[in-house]
Amino acid sequence: MKIAIASDHAGFEQKVQLAPWLAEEGYEVLDFGPSSEDRVDYPDFAYKVASAVAAGEADRGILVCGTGLGMEMGANKVPGIRAAAVQTPEFAELMRAHNDANVLCLSGRFVALEVNEELCRIFLETPFEGGRHAGRTAKLDRGCMVEPRVQVVRHPLVAHKLSILRGKDTPTKLFRELIRELALFLGYEATRDFPLEDVEVHTPLETMTGKRVAGKKVAIVPILRAGLGMVDGLLVLLPSAKVGHIGMYRDEETHEPHEYYCKLPPDVDQRTCLLVDPMLATGGSAAMAIEFLRKAGVSDVRLLSIVSAPEGLEEVLASDPTVRIFTCAIDRCLNENAYILPGLGDAGDRIFGTL
Ligand code: RB5
Repeated sequence: MKIAIASDHAGFEQKVQLAPWLAEEGYEVLDFGPSSEDRVDYPDFAYKVASAVAAGEADRGILVCGTGLGMEMGANKVPGIRAAAVQTPEFAELMRAHNDANVLCLSGRFVALEVNEELCRIFLETPFEGGRHAGRTAKLDRGCMVEPRVQVVRHPLVAHKLSILRGKDTPTKLFRELIRELALFLGYEATRDFPLEDVEVHTPLETMTGKRVAGKKVAIVPILRAGLGMVDGLLVLLPSAKVGHIGMYRDEETHEPHEYYCKLPPDVDQRTCLLVDPMLATGGSAAMAIEFLRKAGVSDVRLLSIVSAPEGLEEVLASDPTVRIFTCAIDRCLNENAYILPGLGDAGDRIFGTL
């Protein structure tokens, strides 16, 4: 087994003893430094070891700083790394058995060398239990503790505009403008992975190779009627997109969605569909609209909603295995009338001034 090891100045003394000890124990040791006790910054060395482990150049990593904490924080910034600062044998065992940790971070100032050797031994010999723990470590590796299909757009301007939008005294004109602007932010995030291709550009001075979106065809599909308020913002980003419409209303008593109008572009099955509705409340209409798009042959559906309730997110994610959701906020819950709390009231009424 190959072990990458490094320290900072505070862990140096122990590192130079741990490295030969590991070699004596039969491990192949890759020493990433430093080579003297001069002051260095622990993130630099955490990065070296973590990158070697993440790239498969080493099977495990061991990092020593004053406390182990800075090394832990640094190493965990590298995708694929599960690093833990550990001081007890029990934790050394559990970091492997439950967390499949691949980097051990030790304290060179507060833990004796013999204890750290024991921690290394346990770290290197304890297998991962797998089973129920495997799904959890997979979530860690995805870097997403919630649901990888849901993306909350976090941006200071989004937070600012959203607060104005929510205010009960915000007038219709401003409300409409904000819905349009927030739709633009959502569209920006929802199109982030669109593929690019090279294009030759003749600037006034010379010719260069630029980029353009590689033939991605898009349909913007508002759920009537509130979704209409988001269309203009998205058309600013995607001026060639086609616009389809799905008309649904919610039964006031049962809260069940009913479809009353649907008109989609004829080649919708070849397009990425940005399904838009400012509010994702129960998720009933969105789930129904997604089902409708699937039946029309659409494979890539992205739901853009300005404010979402956890109940709606759950419903939509459960109803369709691949839909992705982009939202500016996940609110607390629904009230007994299926309104989002704290929410912003009825988006349709506020956009069209029909309160
Ligand atoms: C260096 O003085 C010390 O801050 C460092 O070794 C480490 O303990 C940081 O987490």
